[in-house]
Amino acid sequence: MKVDLLGDWRRTHTCGDLRKEDTDTQVCLLGWVQTRRDHGGLIFVDLRDRYGVTQVVFNPEVAPQAHEKAHSLRSEYVIAVQGTVGMRPKDMENPRIATGAIEVVVRELKILNESKTPYFPIDDEADVAENVRLRYRYLDLRRERMQENLLLRHRTAKVVRDYFSSHGFLEIETPFLTRSTPEGARDYLVPSRMNPGNFYALPQSPQLFKQLLMISGFDRYFQIVKCFRDEDLRADRQPEFTQIDVEMSFVGPEDIQEYMEGMLETVFSEILGVQLTTPFPRMSYQEATTRYGSDRPDMRFGMELVEVTDVVARSQFQVFTQAIEEGGIVKGINLKGGGGRSRKEIEDLVGVAQSYGAGGLAWFKVEAEGCQSPIAKFFPTEALQEIAARIEGQPGDLLLFVADRSPVVHEVLGQLRLHLAREEGLIKEDTYQFLWVVDFPLLEYDDEQKRYVAVHHPFTAPRDEDIAKLTDAPLEVRAQAYDIVLNGSEIGGGSIRNHRTEVQRQLFDILGIGKEEAEAKFGFLLEALEYGAPPHGGIAFGFDRLVMLLCGADSIREVISFPKTQKATCLLTGAPASVDPQQLKELFLKVKI
Ligand code: AMO
Ligand code: AMP
Repeated sequence: MKVDLLGDWRRTHTCGDLRKEDTDTQVCLLGWVQTRRDHGGLIFVDLRDRYGVTQVVFNPEVAPQAHEKAHSLRSEYVIAVQGTVGMRPKDMENPRIATGAIEVVVRELKILNESKTPYFPIDDEADVAENVRLRYRYLDLRRERMQENLLLRHRTAKVVRDYFSSHGFLEIETPFLTRSTPEGARDYLVPSRMNPGNFYALPQSPQLFKQLLMISGFDRYFQIVKCFRDEDLRADRQPEFTQIDVEMSFVGPEDIQEYMEGMLETVFSEILGVQLTTPFPRMSYQEATTRYGSDRPDMRFGMELVEVTDVVARSQFQVFTQAIEEGGIVKGINLKGGGGRSRKEIEDLVGVAQSYGAGGLAWFKVEAEGCQSPIAKFFPTEALQEIAARIEGQPGDLLLFVADRSPVVHEVLGQLRLHLAREEGLIKEDTYQFLWVVDFPLLEYDDEQKRYVAVHHPFTAPRDEDIAKLTDAPLEVRAQAYDIVLNGSEIGGGSIRNHRTEVQRQLFDILGIGKEEAEAKFGFLLEALEYGAPPHGGIAFGFDRLVMLLCGADSIREVISFPKTQKATCLLTGAPASVDPQQLKELFLKVKI
């Protein structure tokens, strides 16, 4: 098959270009056969490329040879056609596509390549299992929806780059072959052939390099950059993902937040035509967890958590009283109008609560005569009235309560709240609720490792007024850290950093990172801090998550060209795979499973 796309066979238009005004123009289109319909005399082909679909017609009376050849066309053949643009008959117009008023009457056809029958139709409507889509990703990416998603991703990256450039930020690349950065996940390691027995770690983020760039005086840095984390995967987590990474010198948290709000305003306006209102609301971590049971609350609906510990302490219900005696709390949510749910439906909710770690779920139906429940008998009437009043229970509502240690209560009710909102359709689509979550604790205690760990990362600065508490009450120290949440998804997080060696060393100490270990792992940073480090801070956005929300997709895999499965495998290439013994030998490695 000779393929010469010069002269008459050079593409004149894309499959999305032609309109009524182009009637009688001689054109050459190239693309894929979407469908072929044989109407006895005439053969119609929908020709597709990434710009659209154009109907081309083979008429035996106009071009007998091309018509004859068109019989052999199958889905996904790659063809070139030359012909004349014609108006479709009025009743044959297709208003659903941009080229729907015209068709190309073919004079000559060239088959550029054949195609095997694809495993699924190249059609958004086709319901295809994700593993099949990932196995044949190059076909999946031919589908309109995926093409739109990647186009939107490209446009977003461009808007982001332009925004930062216009505000004096420099995009500076940082190494992939580097040392471990502690962002809380496992590292991906790369053995060094030149340095037997030594490994690079792929960066979990450019955190330390961007801090070094501030010490170098670059002042305003950004990068759209890959990060690598070996962690448990979910719909919004990939082992390699992309961040919009930012760092600035001589700023406080508000400056960084303001620039990021500016970026999001620009992105939403240019990509979706949506005008955001800034500044976004701020909420402390403490308030977010107590009111919504989450540090990334979805603010598109209410159903807040209400505490009733003091009231139920007066009951005879042992599940509650015992939990309280053991230092726990009791909180509930009100499912408005949920009183009609059957016993079976309520049992299902108990199951949901248990799946998130609850011992059980207590419930009351609010009725005109009072609260009704198998456990109502354990509560004095006035207590039931007080509970209902506090949680604004009205006849027809279903009240759901969990008793446990407060982290469990918050986790369970936070998840149950989301579950119920989805079930009841309470979440308004096409609304964008941003929230800054601030005042995170600097440290938390890890029961398994029996030591303090950084909530954000070990380079985050404590609030100045809390530094004194570092030694006596480390858990009460608040961080100069902030997360940005959109519709219940954490799309970014950052902090002001420790720019003074003493505080950074003290923190390593509290985190149980000994002097030697700190020297070995982060010595270069500690040293750099001693050469005039400016006050600095920054943030990183999950670019995939942001694009996912802009596309209205429900998984970041929908906006990543070649994503990995939940088991971190690539179904297309078969990565990860075993390697040649010779390669291992060169790396001085032996595999033992
Ligand atoms: P953090 O670890 O919070 O901060 O990451 C920033 C943002 O990156 C996104 N993200 C992910 N997206 C997809 N898959 C993953 N596995 C994944 N992990 C994180 C989230 C998150 O909010 N160096 C700091 C930033 C800083 O302090 O400036 C950092 O990486 O949307
Ligand atoms: P039990 O005593 O386990 O039969 O539980 C009695 C009722 O209390 C059941 O409806 C349980 O679902 C509920 N329940 C049990 N544990 C908890 C808990 N930790 N919080 C709220 N309700 C609970």
